[in-house]
Amino acid sequence: MSEIRERKDYSNGPLCLSGRGVTKVFGLGDNRTVAVDHVDFDFHEGEFVSIVGESGSGKTTLSKMLLGLMTPTEGEILFEGKPRDISTGKKRKEYWKGIQAIFQDPFASYNVFHKIDSVLLDCIHLRGGKNLSKKQKVEMMTEACSFVNLKFSELTNKYPFELSGGQMQRLMIARIFLLKPRILLADEPTSMVDACSRATILDMLFELRRETGMTIIFITHDIGLAYYVSDTVYIMEHGRFVESGKADDVILTPQAPYTKRLISDVPKIHEVWDLSTVDLLKEDA
Ligand SMILES: Nc1ncnc2c1ncn2[C@@H]1O[C@H](COP(=O)(O)OP(=O)(O)OP(=O)(O)O)[C@@H](O)[C@H]1O
Ligand SMILES: [Mg+2]
Repeated sequence: MSEIRERKDYSNGPLCLSGRGVTKVFGLGDNRTVAVDHVDFDFHEGEFVSIVGESGSGKTTLSKMLLGLMTPTEGEILFEGKPRDISTGKKRKEYWKGIQAIFQDPFASYNVFHKIDSVLLDCIHLRGGKNLSKKQKVEMMTEACSFVNLKFSELTNKYPFELSGGQMQRLMIARIFLLKPRILLADEPTSMVDACSRATILDMLFELRRETGMTIIFITHDIGLAYYVSDTVYIMEHGRFVESGKADDVILTPQAPYTKRLISDVPKIHEVWDLSTVDLLKEDA
């Protein structure tokens, strides 16, 4: 259990993704919604950041802007300290080598007409592996599947919809294993699965971070889980960050009333992770 509870201070390390005044407004007039309202943030290389907030607080909208799937109404996003430029298809593709996501709904993440082999092959090709031999590609896919406890030989020729929800989640992580992005954005990847699979998935994310040094941006409702997994926490209410900082500072000595309320909704915050992440403890204990 060494790594997970041992938090590092990344605040002086290299920046990977930052935002200044990032805002998203939907609709006009009476239908106007300010989903994300002038947020500032600095995410560092290798940092495990959680963004915590209730439903409708703007988390997914912010993720879509981070991924370049949605344009901010106002504000600026910086990638590795420089203004992000994704103005052309080519630049966007290049950007996506650096940032990848695991979405809330895995079923929405795959092209249902593509077999699993081609989902994984696409990742190898995106990383410049087009000219590798078929044997090498199969080896890479097999390794990626075994990293997430799936058997590649049982998946070939299947379509994503033929998998269970949990297998699908793991397939998403196998993609990340092949893509090795600098930043992984995980929007509640655990919401569909039970506590045990949730722990396994988090375990895999930690393992990926250990191997590649990637930054993980984890989006969740669950402040207890955020406390357990993160170095840094941003608390989001009505599109704004009401509080941010080291997980220990924010959660053990919260300042904002909203953070205090989120914490009071968790009966015993120190015990939450004992229950929900039992599997995490097993290997490193
Ligand atoms: N495409 C859209 N058009 C109009 N309003 C939108 C759109 N997407 C999101 N919203 C609104 O923006 C606000 C923030 O939504 P968002 O999906 O970002 O919240 P969330 O924090 O991810 O919630 P949840 O935890 O339920 O996933 C909500 O009021 C939502 O109704
Ligand atoms: Mg959401």
